[in-house]
Amino acid sequence: MQSVNDYYSAIQLRSDRWSALRAATAALARDPSGRKADAQRKEVERLFDALALVETYWAFPGVQAFDHLRRQFEHGNLDDLAFGTHRAARALTTGAYRRRHIPLDRDSADAEDHEDEAMLSPEARALARPYFEVMIVDDLNEHQERWLRNNVQRMRRPEDPFIYETVVVPSLEDALIGILFNHNVQAVVVRPGLSLKSKTELPILKRYLNRAGGAEGIEALKAEDYGPELCRLIAKVRPELDAYLVTERSVEEIAGLDLGICRRVFYNQEDFLELHLNILRGVQSRYKTPFFTALVEYSKQPTGVFHAMPISRGKSISRSHWIQDMGAFYGPNIFLAETSATSGGLDSLLEPHGPIKKAQELAARAFGAKQTFFATNGTSTCNKIVVQALMRPGDIVLIDRDCHKSHHYGMVLAGAQVVYLDSYPLNEYSMYGAVPLKEIKHQLLKLKAAGKLDRVRMLLLTNCTFDGVVYNVERVMEECLAIKPDLIFLWDEAWFAFARFGPTYRQRTAMNAANHLRERLRSPEQAKAWEKQQEKLKDADEATLLKTRLVAPPDARVRAYATQSTHKTLTSLRQGSMIHVNDQDFKGEVEQSFREAYMTHTSTSPNYQIIASLDVGRRQVELEGFEFVQRQVEAAMSMRKAIATHPLLQKYFKVLAAGDMIPAEYRESGVESYYDPHQGWTDIWECWEKDEFVLDATRVTLAVGGTGWDGDTFKTKILMDKYGIQINKTSRNTVLFMTNIGTTRSSVAYLIEVLVEIANELDERLDDASKMERLAFEHRVKALMVDLPPLPDFSRFHDAFRSDQSTTEGDIRTAFFLSYDENNCDYLALDGSIRQAMKSGREVVSASFIIPYPPGFPILVPGQVVSEEILAFMRALDVNEIHGYWPDLGLRVFTEEALDNLVKNKLPKAAE
Ligand SMILES: Cc1ncc(COP(=O)(O)O)c(C=O)c1O
Repeated sequence: MQSVNDYYSAIQLRSDRWSALRAATAALARDPSGRKADAQRKEVERLFDALALVETYWAFPGVQAFDHLRRQFEHGNLDDLAFGTHRAARALTTGAYRRRHIPLDRDSADAEDHEDEAMLSPEARALARPYFEVMIVDDLNEHQERWLRNNVQRMRRPEDPFIYETVVVPSLEDALIGILFNHNVQAVVVRPGLSLKSKTELPILKRYLNRAGGAEGIEALKAEDYGPELCRLIAKVRPELDAYLVTERSVEEIAGLDLGICRRVFYNQEDFLELHLNILRGVQSRYKTPFFTALVEYSKQPTGVFHAMPISRGKSISRSHWIQDMGAFYGPNIFLAETSATSGGLDSLLEPHGPIKKAQELAARAFGAKQTFFATNGTSTCNKIVVQALMRPGDIVLIDRDCHKSHHYGMVLAGAQVVYLDSYPLNEYSMYGAVPLKEIKHQLLKLKAAGKLDRVRMLLLTNCTFDGVVYNVERVMEECLAIKPDLIFLWDEAWFAFARFGPTYRQRTAMNAANHLRERLRSPEQAKAWEKQQEKLKDADEATLLKTRLVAPPDARVRAYATQSTHKTLTSLRQGSMIHVNDQDFKGEVEQSFREAYMTHTSTSPNYQIIASLDVGRRQVELEGFEFVQRQVEAAMSMRKAIATHPLLQKYFKVLAAGDMIPAEYRESGVESYYDPHQGWTDIWECWEKDEFVLDATRVTLAVGGTGWDGDTFKTKILMDKYGIQINKTSRNTVLFMTNIGTTRSSVAYLIEVLVEIANELDERLDDASKMERLAFEHRVKALMVDLPPLPDFSRFHDAFRSDQSTTEGDIRTAFFLSYDENNCDYLALDGSIRQAMKSGREVVSASFIIPYPPGFPILVPGQVVSEEILAFMRALDVNEIHGYWPDLGLRVFTEEALDNLVKNKLPKAAE
C-alpha cells in the first residue's frame, strides 16, 4: 500500500483505497484458505482502517453501510463482502450512486438492474436529476443521527429539481475538513449541538484543515459561537456554498453577528420542510442560467426570419445542395439558437436589461466581483476595453513588458505614457519570471520624486504569467496604495479564471484580494498600523521604503480590474472572456467611459453561443469548480511526481520546480519544490500565503535541452508529429504542459508513456552512436543548456518620445503612428548596417513591435532604442517566427531625420 505522503489529494487516496479493497476482498473470496489468504486478510484490515477515517465525510456508501461491510469481513462472509465492496467501488467510479440507490447486499441487489452506467446515453444522463450532499454539523449519537436523517429524507418530493443525501459530522473542524474533502457538498446545516475539535488523525486531512486557515484561535471560542464561526470560515474556504444556521440564541444576538455565507437562520430545529426548500432554492440559484435558458426557449419557438442571418434556424443549410454536411455535423440546435434577435426573451450584449444582465450579475457573484462584463472576442478585447476606459491620453501606466500584445496595442490606442517594468530573467531557461515588487515601488517612488505621481493612473500585471509565476496580489496592491492611494490595478488573469475555485489559489486572485483589502482598510487595526508606520517612516529614504512592507492608508481606494479568458481554463466556447470589476470609484468615475470603451471594441453582432457558454460555464464552476480544480491540481501534481521520480526520465528531462523558476529572495518560505521524493508533498498553503511569488503547479514546465532538441523542435517534430500531443508554449530549452479542468489521470499517464518512449529511443540511439555523433549530441545539449544569450532588459524610449529625463515613461502612440509614413522609416540589416550605425554613435530606434515566438512578447516596441544586448539576443534567437521583422529587409527603424524633426517639434504629436 502506498503511504499517505504519496498522495497530494485525499480524493485520490480514497479512490485508490476502494479499488485496492475491491481487489483484496475479491481475491480473498476466491481463495479463502490459500497461501496468500493471511496476507490478504491483513491487507483488507488495513484498508478498512484507513478508509474508516475518510468515509465519515461522504454520504455514499455512508458510515452504516461501510460498518456493515466491515462486519461481514469480521464474520467471515467473504462472498457477501466481495460483492458489496465491488458494488460500492464501482458505483464510486461510475458515479452511479448519484443517479440511483445502490444496495450493497446481494438480496436487494439481485432485484436491481445491473445496467452499466457507462452505457447510459448522454441524453439519459442529462435528464437525471443532479445529485449533491448536504453536510449536517451536530454532535449526535447513532440514534439521534438516524432520526435526523430520516426527518430530512421524508421531505423529498417527486417534483424536487435535485436530489440530495446527508452526511453528518460532529464538529467545526470536521465540517471544515469535510467541505474541503467532499466536493459533493453543496450546503451545510450548522446545528447548535456541534463540538469544536475533530478526532481524525489522518495527516492528509489535517493538511486540509490548515488550508482552511488552520482555524486559528478557535480554541478561545465559546461553545455558542462555534456555529457563527463555522459559517464565517466556510465563507473563506468555499464561498460558493450555502450555509444554514440552526440556533437557539435570540434574534437580537444573532442579528449583530457576522455570519459569513449563512443564507438563513432557523430558530426552530424541527422545521425540516422549510430547511429542505431552502436547500433546494440555494442550489437552484447557482444552477440557473438565465441566458442559456432563454436561448433554449427561444430556439423552440416558431419564428419567421426576416433579418439578415440566413444561417438562422438552419434555413440556408437545409435548402442547400452543397453544405448539408455542415448541418449533419453540428446538428440542428446550434442553428435554431443562431439569431440576431435581441427581443423574444433574449437580450442585447451592448445594452443588457434581461437575461444577459442577469447572467453577468451571477458571474459577478461567482467570481467575487462587483460588476462583470462578458466579452465575445477574447481577453485581447477585454484588455483594450479596460485600458481605454481608464487611461486618458498622457496618463502614466506601469506595465510588465512581457505582457500580452493586446496591452501594448491598448496603450497605443489610449495614448498612454508607458513605463515598462522588467521581470526578473530566467536566463537558464530563456524565459522571464515576473516583476519584483521592489522594482514596482522603485518606479513609483521615482515618479513621486519627479512630481509626476498625480499622472500615474494604473499598474498592469499578468497574473499568473504564461509560465505560471503567481504574484502576491494583495501585497502588491497594498504596498503600491501606500505610495499612490488611488492607483488602479489591471490584473491580466487570462490564464487564471479557474483560480477562484481552489481555496489556495483564490487568495491570489484580483477579486478576492480586492475584497479582502477593502475589508482590511475599513478596520481600526489598519488605521493604527498605518499611523504607526507613518511616524516611523517620516524621513525615510528610498532604500528604507523599498525594504519596508508598506501599509496602505485607511482612506486608500481599492480599484481592481481582472480580465479572464474563461475559454482558456474553464468551460466556454473559444473567445468567451470576462471582465471583472472591483473598483470603489467605478460608479462615480468610470461607468460612462467604460461603456464607451465597451462599445468601441464590442461587435454589434456578438455570438450568442459564446455568451450562453459563459453562462453555463459559470453554473459549472459554482457547483463543481472546486472539484474540477482539485482534480486538475491533483493530475498536475501526479505528473510532476512521475517525471521527477522516474530514473530514465531524469536523464533527459527536468520538471522545473518553484526553486528553479523563482529566485530564493522571492520565496520567503524557503520551499523549493511542492513535491520531494523523500518527504512527499509540501503543504503549499503556507508558501501561497507568504511568498512574493509562487508557482501555479498546474502549469508544468519541462526542461528538454538534455534531449539535444530545442523547445520548438521538441514541440513540433516530436510531440506533435510523432505522438499527436499538442502544446503551445516553448522556450529555447523548455516546453510547457498545461493541465486544465478536463485533464484526466489517463491523459497524464499517456504523456508519461510518451516521454519514456522518447527517452528509451534516445538511450538506444546514443548506445549505437559513433564518437563523432556522441560529441555532436553533447555540443547540442551544451548549446541549449549552457550557452544561452542573456535576456535583454527594456532599454529606453528615445528622447523624441519622452517629456524629460527624470523618469522612463514614453509616448508609444506617437512612435506607433510616426511609422505610418514610410518616409520616416528605414531598414537596417541585423549584422551589417545596424552595427555600423551604432558604432558611429547613432541611436537606432525601432519603428515597430518586434515579437519573436517564442518567447512571444515584444523585445522592441515602437520608439525604443536598440541596445547591444537586444541585438545579441536577436542574433542568438534561432526561431523561425519574429513578428515585425523582415529578414530580407532588416529591422524597421526611424530615420534620424524623423527623430530630429520630432525633437524640434516639427511634427505634430499624434497623441494630441
Ligand atoms: C496573458 C494573456 N493575456 C491575454 C491573452 C489574450 O487572450 P484571448 O486569447 O482570450 O484573446 C493571452 C493569450 O494568450 C494571454 O496569454
